[in-house]
Amino acid sequence: MSRKYVIEGGRYLKGEIKIRGAKNAITKEIVASMLASGKTVLENIPDIGDVSLTTQILEDLGCVVNHEKQAGTLSVNTKNIKKYSVPFEYSGINRIPILMAGPLLHKFGQAVIPMMGGCDIGPRPLDFHISGLEKLGTKVVFDGKSYHFSADKLIGTKIELPFPSVGATENIIMAAVLARGVTVIKNAAIEPEIVDLVMMLQSMGAIISQEVDRTWVIQGVERLNPVQHRVINDRIEAASFAVSAIATRGDVTIKGADQLHLQTFLNWLRKAGGEFEVLSDGIRFYGKDAVIAPIAAETAVHPGLMTDWQQPLVILLTQASGVSVLHETVYENRFSYVNALNKMGAKIQLFKECLGGRQCRFLYSGHLHSCVITGPTPLTGAEIEIPDLRAGFSYLVAAVMAQGRSSLSNIRYIERGYDRILEKFRALGVNIEVEED
Ligand code: EPU
Repeated sequence: MSRKYVIEGGRYLKGEIKIRGAKNAITKEIVASMLASGKTVLENIPDIGDVSLTTQILEDLGCVVNHEKQAGTLSVNTKNIKKYSVPFEYSGINRIPILMAGPLLHKFGQAVIPMMGGCDIGPRPLDFHISGLEKLGTKVVFDGKSYHFSADKLIGTKIELPFPSVGATENIIMAAVLARGVTVIKNAAIEPEIVDLVMMLQSMGAIISQEVDRTWVIQGVERLNPVQHRVINDRIEAASFAVSAIATRGDVTIKGADQLHLQTFLNWLRKAGGEFEVLSDGIRFYGKDAVIAPIAAETAVHPGLMTDWQQPLVILLTQASGVSVLHETVYENRFSYVNALNKMGAKIQLFKECLGGRQCRFLYSGHLHSCVITGPTPLTGAEIEIPDLRAGFSYLVAAVMAQGRSSLSNIRYIERGYDRILEKFRALGVNIEVEED
């Protein structure tokens, strides 16, 4: 049975919502619990598909998981992990299983992980993960379906990543914490979600320091202990709702929106004409009288403009008076979702060149990774199939802004990553129903 969201457009968002824990931190922290034996308790847990999927895998391996959805707590007891092989049914579902390589290697000396998946936003290879694990002393064999990892003992080493990959940095950190000796990761990712993972690992007993120029130094320890940890708030969820407030000319207070982790986003939002007020426990975003202005920006690794903020910003820029440019430098194929927006009335063109900033590694790659948006354009309701999580949220906002009715299918992508999305949109005054075919 397939489910659809049906949205009556022409609305503005008004009210207050509360942000929950970050998808891109909690899923990794659930995996990190496997590095200790016993019961770890995580707090501020969002009710999202990726948490259910990650905990299902841990249960398959033998962990006991208890997720109290209302309270937002999740406990993982790892005492009885008995399998080192992630079932093949989890292949292609998300990017989490590959991060289990380190914890399983430390426990069993081997790990079997099926091929990876995730949103359809480019090829998303695993070469940095694999070569990092190899440098730490892991033997890796790919049999065409799964990766087979084996190692007697991981040994600290120096690794320089070709690009500051979030997943590869997390993978190497989780493999290095219990390795013998010191591991240095250069050109590493330093996103706030990684810092949160490092804080959890430190509470568990790890010794990890951050040095200048994107460097992590991990001093291996003998053992880690279970802990209680509160997950960092979701800065992508916060930015997504912030843009929605302004693009719909509404007024939304986002409790738990953290200025520290939204600093770059807030600068770009202000340049685009968005108004906000920082409060003691969140940020209020309002757009009733906003003059939406065009911008030329590019996505980048932290502390740059996040690639996951790009999609809501594109929606806002369809309402700017003039021509805006967004250059995507993290993923080579993250703009195909704009075709559906053009169907709704937007004027968006894609280019293979690096527009609006520096040359990136996708220059001459032939990928359409720059986007030119001409506004303002009114939007009209449409029937849309969602291709990935962040595009899905943007379609939802576009549907709220559009005149008429829209229907969105493949909503499982949105529900994978946004906590109680229906409840939150309805609380902000949106008329949104779920239809089942
Ligand atoms: N890359 C490689 N080889 C690798 C790993 C990455 O070439 O072995 C490339 C990727 O193809 C991409 C770039 O490096 O072009 C960055 O990828 P990264 O590894 O940083 O991404 P990820 O860890 O797979 C996480 C988030 C993404 C987020 C990116 C960038 C999770 C589960 N996913 O992905 O979030 O966009 O970092 O910040 O943490 C989302 O939440 O919707 C989402 C896609």
